[in-house]
Amino acid sequence: MTDAILIKGGTVVNDDEMVKADVLVQDGKIVAVGPDLHCEGATLVDAAGRLVIPGGIDPHTHMQLPFMGEIAVDDFYSGTRAALAGGTTMIIDFVIPAKDSTPLKAYKQWRDWADPKVCCDYALSMAITTWNDSVSKEMAEVTKPEYGINSFKFFLAYKGVFMVHDDEFYQGMLQCAKIGGMARVHAENGPVIAEKAKELLSLGVTGPEGHTQSRPEELEAEATNRACVLASQANCPLYVVHVMSKGAARAIAHHRQRGAVVFGEPIAAGLGTDGSHYYSDDWLHAARHVMSPPLSRDPSTPEALMRLLACGELHLVGTDNCTFNCQQKLAGKDDFTKIPNGVNGVEDRMAIVWERGVHRGIMDPMRFVAVTSSQCAKIFNMYPRKGRIAVGSDADIVIWNPDATKIISKDTHHQAVDYNIFEGQTVHGVAEVTISRGKIVWQDQRLSVEAGAGKFVSLPPYCPYVFAACQQREKVIQPRSVKREPIAEIESLKITDKQQTTKSKVPPGGGSQISFA
Ligand code: URP
Ligand code: ZN
Ligand code: ZN
Repeated sequence: MTDAILIKGGTVVNDDEMVKADVLVQDGKIVAVGPDLHCEGATLVDAAGRLVIPGGIDPHTHMQLPFMGEIAVDDFYSGTRAALAGGTTMIIDFVIPAKDSTPLKAYKQWRDWADPKVCCDYALSMAITTWNDSVSKEMAEVTKPEYGINSFKFFLAYKGVFMVHDDEFYQGMLQCAKIGGMARVHAENGPVIAEKAKELLSLGVTGPEGHTQSRPEELEAEATNRACVLASQANCPLYVVHVMSKGAARAIAHHRQRGAVVFGEPIAAGLGTDGSHYYSDDWLHAARHVMSPPLSRDPSTPEALMRLLACGELHLVGTDNCTFNCQQKLAGKDDFTKIPNGVNGVEDRMAIVWERGVHRGIMDPMRFVAVTSSQCAKIFNMYPRKGRIAVGSDADIVIWNPDATKIISKDTHHQAVDYNIFEGQTVHGVAEVTISRGKIVWQDQRLSVEAGAGKFVSLPPYCPYVFAACQQREKVIQPRSVKREPIAEIESLKITDKQQTTKSKVPPGGGSQISFA
């Protein structure tokens, strides 16, 4: 057994259990979990005093995304390499067709970009940025196993670029429901934001503080509520990406209490920092934090979102990693609407959640595993292959030291971007060893990765975890019509009625006895 790895003496943490056990890995899979395992020739990893957790899965990244005239600097190589250093072993990125492209063309483009570069496994979600019959057909096409898409994202913001209107969003979700793809939504009110941005610019507010003022939290809450209402009308499961405010989280909770199938994804940025930065005297410092929806200006929001994650009202943590260097951010130096939107997170997500969730006593290690990997694996239909330490699961494993600390900094991070929105924060919880596809790729603070070593993971549609309730509801809510007498008979009744009315002006009961409603 030359390529076997034996992890000894750790505590295995899954989303529903914590147990002292060794873990044996062979040929990219977990082949044994239990006490006192032995294996001749295996590479030994000492996990005494450490947690052995499923590798993190980041459900929301934008590597090398062309956006707002720039290309995000973390590409599929630097982005996935950095992810591994932070304990994330899989990402789900978004194919985003330009309005004049098509889902199939864009899909090919993303695969061409990602396949030769990824250092860890990855999957794709498809954005729907325009609506017509051919887009609808291509949505069905990409759910086939050779394309492996089982979710579709709709932007209710970025007017004129990626935004779809409510009728298109609704039609798109009807199609999602039909083909077994979950809808994902960027929930903001694009048209109103565009108006508010114009107003602010005309008043001379041109700096990054204009970004947050043009996007009040109410507009995120309104769009989140609207998205939930429309998803219920389409009987389509919904996943709200980057939940940034309490109002949006409340809207999700409200609809879940009424039985809606809706999942909420806060992101590392929203849990680990806040919108006070937009008012910094330093333009560049403020611009580095520009993302949409903006970071909350309410300083109590990060903890509130973490508490909702802990209690199950929010479900999993993404990053929306979409990084633009300082030079690129300067594109908006005279006009905040031109600052490329996006921040980092893929490397620091796990540590931010541990520090602000587990270390502060808000959630336990099992919930940490749930929100950083297992929930994602369940929602995207790849559980227990991913998101679990169990025999037969992929050997994507992290040896997590809950007591170690580090200071997050652009000087030591592995991302290509030249700043870090968590700069200077001390975090407890460090990925000491990362195993991806059965290979040690991060140990002793050193990466040993290979471009293209990661593989594309095809995600099957009709995930039962997401769709079971909607499928049953589909049967219950079928449109129904009322069986009535043929029209001829009704006509004769009308005559009788007329005759009766002539006979007695006031019928019994005081009104018409025949209802056609
Ligand atoms: O500001 C953001 N969020 N940039 C990436 C694109 C998106 O909205 O997801
Ligand atoms: Zn978005
Ligand atoms: Zn995004």
